[in-house]
Amino acid sequence: MAQRSNFGSKIGVVLAAAGSAVGLGNVWRFPTEVGNNGGAAFILIYLFSVFFIGIPVMLSEFVIGRSTHANAITAFRKLTEPSVTDESRRDRSLVGRLKNSRWWRIGGIEGVFVAFFISCYYIIVSGWTLHYTVASFCNQLSGDHDYKAHFQQFVTSPWEPVLYAVIFMLIVHVIIVRGVQNGIEKFSKLMMPMLLLIIAVLVVCSFSMSGFTEGMAFMLKPDFSKVSPTVVLSAVGQAFYSLSLAMGCLCTYASYFGSDTNLGRTAVNVALIDTCVAVLCGFIIFPAVFSVPSVSANEGPGLVFITLPHVFNIAFHHTPVIGYLFSGLFYVLLLLSALTSAISLHEPVTAYIHEEWNVSRRKAAWMVTVACMLLGVACSLSMGVWNDFKIAGLCLFDLFDFVSAKLILPLGGILICLFVGHKLDRQLVENEVTNHGKLRVPLFRLYIYLIRWVAPLAIALIFFNELFFSK
Ligand code: PHE
Repeated sequence: MAQRSNFGSKIGVVLAAAGSAVGLGNVWRFPTEVGNNGGAAFILIYLFSVFFIGIPVMLSEFVIGRSTHANAITAFRKLTEPSVTDESRRDRSLVGRLKNSRWWRIGGIEGVFVAFFISCYYIIVSGWTLHYTVASFCNQLSGDHDYKAHFQQFVTSPWEPVLYAVIFMLIVHVIIVRGVQNGIEKFSKLMMPMLLLIIAVLVVCSFSMSGFTEGMAFMLKPDFSKVSPTVVLSAVGQAFYSLSLAMGCLCTYASYFGSDTNLGRTAVNVALIDTCVAVLCGFIIFPAVFSVPSVSANEGPGLVFITLPHVFNIAFHHTPVIGYLFSGLFYVLLLLSALTSAISLHEPVTAYIHEEWNVSRRKAAWMVTVACMLLGVACSLSMGVWNDFKIAGLCLFDLFDFVSAKLILPLGGILICLFVGHKLDRQLVENEVTNHGKLRVPLFRLYIYLIRWVAPLAIALIFFNELFFSK
Protein backbone atom coordinates (compact mmCIF):
# COMPACT_ATOMS: atom_id res chain seq x y z
CA MET A 1 0.00 0.00 0.00
CA ALA A 2 1.14 3.54 -0.70
CA GLN A 3 2.99 5.37 2.04
CA ARG A 4 0.51 7.21 4.26
CA SER A 5 1.19 10.79 5.14
CA ASN A 6 0.54 12.47 8.47
CA PHE A 7 -0.33 15.99 9.51
CA GLY A 8 2.91 17.88 9.87
CA SER A 9 2.25 20.05 12.92
CA LYS A 10 0.19 20.15 16.10
CA ILE A 11 -1.54 23.34 15.09
CA GLY A 12 -2.35 21.73 11.75
CA VAL A 13 -4.03 18.85 13.58
CA VAL A 14 -6.22 21.14 15.68
CA LEU A 15 -7.11 23.49 12.82
CA ALA A 16 -8.00 20.67 10.42
CA ALA A 17 -10.24 18.96 12.99
CA ALA A 18 -11.72 22.32 14.05
CA GLY A 19 -12.29 23.07 10.36
CA SER A 20 -14.39 19.96 10.12
CA ALA A 21 -16.37 20.88 13.21
CA VAL A 22 -16.92 24.56 12.41
CA GLY A 23 -19.47 24.60 9.62
CA LEU A 24 -22.95 25.61 8.63
CA GLY A 25 -24.07 24.01 11.87
CA ASN A 26 -22.34 26.77 13.85
CA VAL A 27 -23.28 29.79 11.80
CA TRP A 28 -26.70 28.72 10.70
CA ARG A 29 -28.14 25.99 12.91
CA PHE A 30 -26.84 27.00 16.34
CA PRO A 31 -28.28 30.55 16.41
CA THR A 32 -31.57 29.22 15.05
CA GLU A 33 -31.75 26.65 17.85
CA VAL A 34 -30.81 29.23 20.47
CA GLY A 35 -33.51 31.55 19.12
CA ASN A 36 -36.18 28.87 19.28
CA ASN A 37 -35.25 27.19 22.53
CA GLY A 38 -34.84 29.69 25.33
CA GLY A 39 -31.59 31.56 24.60
CA ALA A 40 -28.97 31.02 27.28
CA ALA A 41 -30.89 28.08 28.75
CA PHE A 42 -30.26 26.22 25.52
CA ILE A 43 -26.61 27.31 25.48
CA LEU A 44 -26.15 25.95 28.99
CA ILE A 45 -27.58 22.56 28.10
CA TYR A 46 -25.52 22.58 24.93
CA LEU A 47 -22.32 23.12 26.92
CA PHE A 48 -23.16 20.16 29.14
CA SER A 49 -23.79 18.01 26.06
CA VAL A 50 -20.47 19.00 24.52
CA PHE A 51 -18.58 18.19 27.68
CA PHE A 52 -20.29 14.97 28.72
CA ILE A 53 -21.09 13.46 25.33
CA GLY A 54 -19.37 15.33 22.53
CA ILE A 55 -15.80 15.29 23.84
CA PRO A 56 -15.87 11.60 24.93
CA VAL A 57 -17.26 10.48 21.55
CA MET A 58 -14.71 12.61 19.71
CA LEU A 59 -11.91 11.14 21.79
CA SER A 60 -13.17 7.65 20.97
CA GLU A 61 -13.06 8.40 17.25
CA PHE A 62 -9.51 9.66 17.71
CA VAL A 63 -8.60 6.41 19.47
CA ILE A 64 -10.01 4.30 16.63
CA GLY A 65 -8.30 6.34 13.92
CA ARG A 66 -4.90 6.87 15.48
CA SER A 67 -4.48 3.33 16.79
CA THR A 68 -4.93 1.88 13.29
CA HIS A 69 -3.65 4.64 10.99
CA ALA A 70 -6.27 3.64 8.45
CA ASN A 71 -9.49 4.90 6.89
CA ALA A 72 -12.64 4.31 8.94
CA ILE A 73 -13.68 1.01 7.35
CA THR A 74 -10.20 -0.54 7.54
CA ALA A 75 -9.79 0.81 11.07
CA PHE A 76 -12.83 -1.08 12.36
CA ARG A 77 -11.72 -4.18 10.48
CA LYS A 78 -8.23 -4.05 11.96
CA LEU A 79 -9.61 -3.64 15.46
CA THR A 80 -11.90 -6.63 15.11
CA GLU A 81 -9.29 -8.96 13.68
CA PRO A 82 -8.77 -12.12 15.76
CA SER A 83 -5.24 -11.14 16.77
CA VAL A 84 -6.57 -8.10 18.60
CA THR A 85 -9.15 -10.11 20.46
CA ASP A 86 -7.13 -13.26 21.06
CA GLU A 87 -7.41 -13.28 24.82
CA SER A 88 -11.20 -13.21 24.75
CA ARG A 89 -11.66 -15.60 21.82
CA ARG A 90 -12.52 -18.53 23.98
CA ASP A 91 -15.36 -16.74 25.71
CA ARG A 92 -18.43 -18.46 24.27
CA SER A 93 -21.02 -16.73 26.44
CA LEU A 94 -23.52 -14.39 24.79
CA VAL A 95 -21.52 -11.36 25.92
CA GLY A 96 -18.32 -12.99 24.68
CA ARG A 97 -19.85 -13.74 21.30
CA LEU A 98 -21.20 -10.24 20.99
CA LYS A 99 -17.78 -8.84 21.83
CA ASN A 100 -16.10 -10.99 19.21
CA SER A 101 -18.67 -10.38 16.54
CA ARG A 102 -17.64 -9.03 13.17
CA TRP A 103 -20.78 -6.91 13.06
CA TRP A 104 -18.85 -4.13 14.81
CA ARG A 105 -17.39 -3.39 11.39
CA ILE A 106 -20.65 -1.72 10.48
CA GLY A 107 -19.32 1.23 12.51
CA GLY A 108 -16.73 2.01 9.84
CA ILE A 109 -19.02 1.32 6.90
CA GLU A 110 -21.67 3.57 8.41
CA GLY A 111 -19.16 6.41 8.81
CA VAL A 112 -18.01 6.36 5.21
CA PHE A 113 -21.53 6.01 3.80
CA VAL A 114 -22.99 8.78 5.93
CA ALA A 115 -20.10 11.08 5.04
CA PHE A 116 -20.80 10.44 1.38
CA PHE A 117 -24.55 10.98 1.58
CA ILE A 118 -24.24 14.07 3.74
CA SER A 119 -21.71 15.46 1.23
CA CYS A 120 -24.30 15.18 -1.53
CA TYR A 121 -26.65 17.71 0.01
CA TYR A 122 -24.06 19.63 2.06
CA ILE A 123 -22.50 20.80 -1.21
CA ILE A 124 -25.87 22.10 -2.37
CA VAL A 125 -26.33 24.29 0.71
CA SER A 126 -22.65 25.24 0.43
CA GLY A 127 -23.35 26.25 -3.17
CA TRP A 128 -26.08 28.57 -1.83
CA THR A 129 -23.50 30.21 0.43
CA LEU A 130 -21.24 30.72 -2.57
CA HIS A 131 -24.11 32.34 -4.46
CA TYR A 132 -24.92 34.64 -1.53
CA THR A 133 -21.26 35.61 -1.22
CA VAL A 134 -21.13 36.55 -4.89
CA ALA A 135 -24.53 38.26 -4.79
CA SER A 136 -23.52 40.20 -1.73
CA PHE A 137 -20.27 41.47 -3.24
CA CYS A 138 -22.11 42.30 -6.50
CA ASN A 139 -24.43 44.44 -4.39
CA GLN A 140 -27.45 42.39 -5.38
CA LEU A 141 -28.66 41.98 -1.81
CA SER A 142 -29.11 45.67 -1.06
CA GLY A 143 -31.90 48.12 -1.77
CA ASP A 144 -35.57 47.27 -1.97
CA HIS A 145 -35.61 43.56 -2.40
CA ASP A 146 -37.94 40.65 -1.78
CA TYR A 147 -35.48 38.36 -0.02
CA LYS A 148 -37.89 35.49 0.34
CA ALA A 149 -38.71 35.48 -3.36
CA HIS A 150 -35.00 35.74 -4.21
CA PHE A 151 -34.22 32.68 -2.09
CA GLN A 152 -37.18 30.66 -3.37
CA GLN A 153 -36.43 31.49 -6.94
CA PHE A 154 -32.76 30.64 -6.54
CA VAL A 155 -33.10 27.28 -4.82
CA THR A 156 -35.83 26.05 -7.14
CA SER A 157 -34.01 27.07 -10.32
CA PRO A 158 -32.92 23.98 -12.28
CA TRP A 159 -29.41 25.18 -13.03
CA GLU A 160 -28.26 28.02 -10.77
CA PRO A 161 -27.78 26.11 -7.49
CA VAL A 162 -26.27 23.23 -9.44
CA LEU A 163 -23.73 25.52 -11.05
CA TYR A 164 -22.66 26.96 -7.69
CA ALA A 165 -22.51 23.51 -6.11
CA VAL A 166 -20.31 22.23 -8.93
CA ILE A 167 -17.90 25.16 -8.56
CA PHE A 168 -17.83 24.62 -4.80
CA MET A 169 -17.20 20.90 -5.20
CA LEU A 170 -14.35 21.52 -7.63
CA ILE A 171 -12.63 23.73 -5.04
CA VAL A 172 -13.02 20.93 -2.48
CA HIS A 173 -11.69 18.46 -5.02
CA VAL A 174 -8.54 20.46 -5.75
CA ILE A 175 -7.74 20.67 -2.04
CA ILE A 176 -8.33 16.95 -1.48
CA VAL A 177 -6.18 15.93 -4.45
CA ARG A 178 -3.24 17.87 -3.03
CA GLY A 179 -3.15 15.43 -0.15
CA VAL A 180 -3.17 15.52 3.63
CA GLN A 181 -0.28 17.89 4.33
CA ASN A 182 -0.29 19.99 1.19
CA GLY A 183 -4.03 20.10 0.81
CA ILE A 184 -6.10 19.66 3.96
CA GLU A 185 -3.54 20.89 6.48
CA LYS A 186 -2.24 23.81 4.45
CA PHE A 187 -5.70 25.08 3.59
CA SER A 188 -7.01 24.63 7.12
CA LYS A 189 -4.06 26.66 8.39
CA LEU A 190 -4.97 29.38 5.92
CA MET A 191 -8.74 29.31 6.14
CA MET A 192 -9.34 28.83 9.85
CA PRO A 193 -7.37 31.94 10.96
CA MET A 194 -9.16 33.90 8.23
CA LEU A 195 -12.47 32.64 9.49
CA LEU A 196 -11.63 33.55 13.09
CA LEU A 197 -10.48 36.99 11.99
CA ILE A 198 -13.72 37.63 10.13
CA ILE A 199 -15.68 36.58 13.20
CA ALA A 200 -13.67 39.00 15.35
CA VAL A 201 -14.28 41.87 12.92
CA LEU A 202 -18.01 41.14 12.71
CA VAL A 203 -18.39 40.85 16.49
CA VAL A 204 -16.68 44.22 16.95
CA CYS A 205 -18.96 45.72 14.27
CA SER A 206 -22.02 44.34 15.99
CA PHE A 207 -21.14 46.37 19.16
CA SER A 208 -22.21 49.46 17.27
CA MET A 209 -25.63 48.14 16.34
CA SER A 210 -28.72 49.59 17.94
CA GLY A 211 -29.94 46.11 18.87
CA PHE A 212 -26.69 45.10 20.57
CA THR A 213 -27.88 45.26 24.19
CA GLU A 214 -31.17 43.59 23.41
CA GLY A 215 -29.51 40.90 21.29
CA MET A 216 -26.97 40.13 23.99
CA ALA A 217 -29.62 40.08 26.67
CA PHE A 218 -31.59 37.62 24.59
CA MET A 219 -28.60 35.33 24.26
CA LEU A 220 -27.34 35.62 27.79
CA LYS A 221 -30.58 35.62 29.76
CA PRO A 222 -31.84 32.09 30.19
CA ASP A 223 -35.52 31.38 29.63
CA PHE A 224 -35.97 28.08 31.40
CA SER A 225 -39.70 28.02 30.71
CA LYS A 226 -38.88 26.91 27.16
CA VAL A 227 -36.79 23.95 28.28
CA SER A 228 -38.45 20.60 27.70
CA PRO A 229 -37.04 17.10 27.15
CA THR A 230 -37.19 17.76 23.42
CA VAL A 231 -35.07 20.88 23.85
CA VAL A 232 -32.51 18.93 25.85
CA LEU A 233 -32.38 16.32 23.15
CA SER A 234 -32.02 18.84 20.38
CA ALA A 235 -29.08 20.35 22.29
CA VAL A 236 -27.39 16.96 22.34
CA GLY A 237 -28.21 16.46 18.65
CA GLN A 238 -26.80 19.87 17.80
CA ALA A 239 -23.59 19.10 19.71
CA PHE A 240 -23.24 15.87 17.81
CA TYR A 241 -23.75 17.44 14.42
CA SER A 242 -21.65 20.48 15.16
CA LEU A 243 -18.68 18.42 16.32
CA SER A 244 -18.87 16.25 13.15
CA LEU A 245 -19.22 13.06 15.16
CA ALA A 246 -19.93 9.56 13.82
CA MET A 247 -19.29 10.39 10.18
CA GLY A 248 -15.91 8.81 9.84
CA CYS A 249 -14.46 12.33 9.43
CA LEU A 250 -12.64 12.75 12.73
CA CYS A 251 -11.70 9.09 12.78
CA THR A 252 -10.07 9.47 9.35
CA TYR A 253 -8.36 12.72 10.33
CA ALA A 254 -7.05 11.04 13.50
CA SER A 255 -5.45 8.35 11.36
CA TYR A 256 -3.11 11.12 10.16
CA PHE A 257 -2.19 12.23 13.72
CA GLY A 258 1.39 11.65 14.84
CA SER A 259 2.20 9.36 17.77
CA ASP A 260 2.93 12.37 20.01
CA THR A 261 -0.46 14.06 19.46
CA ASN A 262 -2.28 14.46 22.76
CA LEU A 263 -5.70 13.10 21.81
CA GLY A 264 -7.58 14.34 24.88
CA ARG A 265 -6.21 17.85 24.61
CA THR A 266 -6.94 17.94 20.88
CA ALA A 267 -10.55 16.90 21.48
CA VAL A 268 -10.98 19.59 24.14
CA ASN A 269 -9.40 22.26 21.92
CA VAL A 270 -11.54 21.36 18.93
CA ALA A 271 -14.70 21.39 21.06
CA LEU A 272 -13.69 24.75 22.56
CA ILE A 273 -13.06 26.37 19.19
CA ASP A 274 -16.29 24.96 17.81
CA THR A 275 -18.35 26.16 20.76
CA CYS A 276 -16.75 29.62 20.84
CA VAL A 277 -17.41 30.05 17.12
CA ALA A 278 -21.05 29.04 17.56
CA VAL A 279 -21.57 31.46 20.46
CA LEU A 280 -19.74 34.29 18.66
CA CYS A 281 -21.92 33.75 15.60
CA GLY A 282 -24.86 34.35 17.91
CA PHE A 283 -23.16 37.60 19.03
CA ILE A 284 -23.07 38.63 15.38
CA ILE A 285 -26.54 37.55 14.37
CA PHE A 286 -28.76 38.53 17.33
CA PRO A 287 -27.66 42.18 17.66
CA ALA A 288 -28.35 42.50 13.93
CA VAL A 289 -31.75 40.83 14.23
CA PHE A 290 -32.77 42.96 17.22
CA SER A 291 -31.77 46.12 15.36
CA VAL A 292 -34.77 45.66 13.09
CA PRO A 293 -38.06 45.82 14.97
CA SER A 294 -40.15 43.94 12.40
CA VAL A 295 -37.99 40.80 12.59
CA SER A 296 -38.08 38.21 15.34
CA ALA A 297 -35.24 36.11 16.70
CA ASN A 298 -36.88 32.78 16.00
CA GLU A 299 -37.41 32.95 12.30
CA GLY A 300 -36.29 29.37 11.73
CA PRO A 301 -34.06 28.01 8.99
CA GLY A 302 -34.66 30.95 6.65
CA LEU A 303 -32.60 33.02 9.11
CA VAL A 304 -29.36 33.11 7.20
CA PHE A 305 -30.61 33.38 3.63
CA ILE A 306 -33.83 35.36 4.01
CA THR A 307 -33.86 37.24 7.32
CA LEU A 308 -30.23 38.28 7.54
CA PRO A 309 -29.82 39.93 4.12
CA HIS A 310 -32.95 41.93 4.95
CA VAL A 311 -31.61 42.77 8.41
CA PHE A 312 -28.17 43.83 7.14
CA ASN A 313 -29.83 46.06 4.61
CA ILE A 314 -32.01 47.88 7.10
CA ALA A 315 -29.59 47.93 10.05
CA PHE A 316 -26.94 49.72 8.00
CA HIS A 317 -29.14 51.96 5.87
CA HIS A 318 -27.30 55.07 7.19
CA THR A 319 -23.91 53.61 6.30
CA PRO A 320 -24.45 51.38 3.26
CA VAL A 321 -20.71 50.86 2.72
CA ILE A 322 -20.36 49.21 6.12
CA GLY A 323 -23.53 47.22 5.43
CA TYR A 324 -22.02 46.06 2.15
CA LEU A 325 -18.79 44.95 3.83
CA PHE A 326 -20.57 43.40 6.81
CA SER A 327 -22.86 41.35 4.63
CA GLY A 328 -20.05 40.33 2.25
CA LEU A 329 -17.78 39.25 5.11
CA PHE A 330 -20.60 37.35 6.76
CA TYR A 331 -21.18 35.24 3.67
CA VAL A 332 -17.44 34.67 3.23
CA LEU A 333 -17.48 33.38 6.80
CA LEU A 334 -20.32 31.03 5.96
CA LEU A 335 -18.56 29.90 2.80
CA LEU A 336 -15.22 29.21 4.52
CA SER A 337 -16.89 27.26 7.29
CA ALA A 338 -18.76 25.17 4.71
CA LEU A 339 -15.57 24.58 2.74
CA THR A 340 -13.51 23.18 5.61
CA SER A 341 -16.40 20.91 6.61
CA ALA A 342 -17.01 19.70 3.06
CA ILE A 343 -13.33 18.79 2.77
CA SER A 344 -13.63 16.65 5.88
CA LEU A 345 -16.69 14.89 4.44
CA HIS A 346 -14.87 14.12 1.20
CA GLU A 347 -11.72 12.76 2.84
CA PRO A 348 -13.11 9.61 4.56
CA VAL A 349 -14.57 8.36 1.29
CA THR A 350 -11.51 9.24 -0.79
CA ALA A 351 -9.16 7.65 1.76
CA TYR A 352 -11.21 4.47 1.80
CA ILE A 353 -11.32 4.11 -1.99
CA HIS A 354 -7.66 5.01 -2.34
CA GLU A 355 -6.47 2.58 0.31
CA GLU A 356 -8.83 -0.32 -0.22
CA TRP A 357 -9.51 -0.35 -3.95
CA ASN A 358 -5.89 0.28 -4.84
CA VAL A 359 -6.45 3.33 -6.99
CA SER A 360 -4.43 6.52 -6.90
CA ARG A 361 -5.60 9.28 -4.57
CA ARG A 362 -6.36 11.49 -7.55
CA LYS A 363 -8.58 8.87 -9.17
CA ALA A 364 -10.29 8.08 -5.88
CA ALA A 365 -10.99 11.79 -5.35
CA TRP A 366 -12.47 12.09 -8.84
CA MET A 367 -14.77 9.13 -8.22
CA VAL A 368 -16.09 10.72 -5.04
CA THR A 369 -16.40 14.18 -6.58
CA VAL A 370 -18.32 12.99 -9.62
CA ALA A 371 -20.62 10.70 -7.63
CA CYS A 372 -21.36 13.49 -5.14
CA MET A 373 -22.08 15.94 -7.91
CA LEU A 374 -24.50 13.58 -9.63
CA LEU A 375 -26.46 12.84 -6.47
CA GLY A 376 -26.14 16.48 -5.43
CA VAL A 377 -27.75 17.59 -8.70
CA ALA A 378 -30.63 15.21 -8.05
CA CYS A 379 -31.01 16.64 -4.52
CA SER A 380 -31.00 20.17 -5.82
CA LEU A 381 -33.53 19.44 -8.56
CA SER A 382 -35.74 17.81 -5.96
CA MET A 383 -36.32 21.25 -4.46
CA GLY A 384 -37.57 22.58 -7.79
CA VAL A 385 -38.55 20.78 -10.96
CA TRP A 386 -38.47 17.31 -9.41
CA ASN A 387 -40.39 18.34 -6.34
CA ASP A 388 -43.27 16.02 -7.19
CA PHE A 389 -41.05 12.96 -6.94
CA LYS A 390 -41.32 11.88 -3.31
CA ILE A 391 -40.25 8.85 -1.33
CA ALA A 392 -42.14 8.34 1.93
CA GLY A 393 -43.49 11.86 1.53
CA LEU A 394 -40.04 13.45 1.38
CA CYS A 395 -38.27 15.03 -1.57
CA LEU A 396 -34.83 13.64 -2.29
CA PHE A 397 -33.02 16.46 -0.45
CA ASP A 398 -35.02 15.91 2.73
CA LEU A 399 -34.79 12.16 2.34
CA PHE A 400 -30.98 12.25 2.25
CA ASP A 401 -30.97 14.50 5.28
CA PHE A 402 -33.43 12.35 7.17
CA VAL A 403 -31.86 8.98 6.43
CA SER A 404 -28.25 10.00 6.94
CA ALA A 405 -28.35 12.65 9.67
CA LYS A 406 -31.41 11.52 11.61
CA LEU A 407 -31.46 7.75 11.19
CA ILE A 408 -28.03 6.31 10.52
CA LEU A 409 -25.93 8.91 12.30
CA PRO A 410 -27.22 8.32 15.84
CA LEU A 411 -26.96 4.57 15.35
CA GLY A 412 -23.35 5.03 14.25
CA GLY A 413 -22.73 7.19 17.33
CA ILE A 414 -24.07 4.49 19.65
CA LEU A 415 -21.95 1.91 17.88
CA ILE A 416 -18.77 3.95 18.36
CA CYS A 417 -19.47 4.35 22.07
CA LEU A 418 -20.19 0.67 22.59
CA PHE A 419 -17.23 -0.34 20.46
CA VAL A 420 -14.69 1.72 22.35
CA GLY A 421 -16.38 1.36 25.74
CA HIS A 422 -17.18 -2.34 25.74
CA LYS A 423 -15.45 -4.10 22.89
CA LEU A 424 -11.98 -2.60 22.63
CA ASP A 425 -9.34 -3.78 25.03
CA ARG A 426 -9.20 -1.23 27.85
CA GLN A 427 -5.38 -1.27 27.75
CA LEU A 428 -5.37 -0.34 24.07
CA VAL A 429 -7.67 2.61 24.76
CA GLU A 430 -5.54 3.70 27.72
CA ASN A 431 -2.35 3.42 25.67
CA GLU A 432 -3.80 5.66 22.99
CA VAL A 433 -5.21 8.26 25.36
CA THR A 434 -2.02 8.45 27.43
CA ASN A 435 0.41 8.00 24.51
CA HIS A 436 1.64 4.74 26.05
CA GLY A 437 1.90 6.13 29.54
CA LYS A 438 3.71 9.34 28.60
CA LEU A 439 0.76 11.57 29.48
CA ARG A 440 -1.11 11.80 32.72
CA VAL A 441 -4.86 11.79 32.04
CA PRO A 442 -6.62 12.20 35.39
CA LEU A 443 -10.11 12.06 33.86
CA PHE A 444 -9.53 8.76 32.07
CA ARG A 445 -11.94 6.82 34.30
CA LEU A 446 -14.63 9.43 33.89
CA TYR A 447 -14.13 9.21 30.12
CA ILE A 448 -14.57 5.44 30.16
CA TYR A 449 -17.70 5.72 32.29
CA LEU A 450 -19.21 8.34 29.99
CA ILE A 451 -18.45 6.38 26.85
CA ARG A 452 -19.75 3.12 28.27
CA TRP A 453 -23.04 4.28 29.71
CA VAL A 454 -23.94 7.96 29.55
CA ALA A 455 -23.20 8.76 25.90
CA PRO A 456 -24.86 5.71 24.28
CA LEU A 457 -27.96 6.18 26.39
CA ALA A 458 -28.19 9.88 25.58
CA ILE A 459 -27.75 9.24 21.87
CA ALA A 460 -30.37 6.50 21.94
CA LEU A 461 -32.78 9.02 23.45
CA ILE A 462 -32.08 11.56 20.69
CA PHE A 463 -32.63 8.86 18.15
CA PHE A 464 -36.07 7.92 19.41
CA ASN A 465 -36.98 11.54 19.89
CA GLU A 466 -36.05 12.40 16.29
CA LEU A 467 -37.85 9.38 14.99
CA PHE A 468 -41.12 9.60 16.86
CA PHE A 469 -41.58 13.01 18.42
CA SER A 470 -40.02 15.70 16.23
CA LYS A 471 -42.25 17.51 13.81
N1 PHE B 1 -19.84 19.98 11.84
C1 PHE B 1 -20.31 20.53 10.60
C2 PHE B 1 -21.14 21.74 10.86
O1 PHE B 1 -21.29 22.18 11.97
C3 PHE B 1 -21.10 19.57 9.82
C4 PHE B 1 -20.32 18.38 9.46
C5 PHE B 1 -20.75 17.21 9.84
C6 PHE B 1 -19.15 18.48 8.80
C7 PHE B 1 -19.98 16.11 9.59
C8 PHE B 1 -18.39 17.39 8.54
C9 PHE B 1 -18.83 16.21 8.96
O2 PHE B 1 -21.69 22.28 9.92
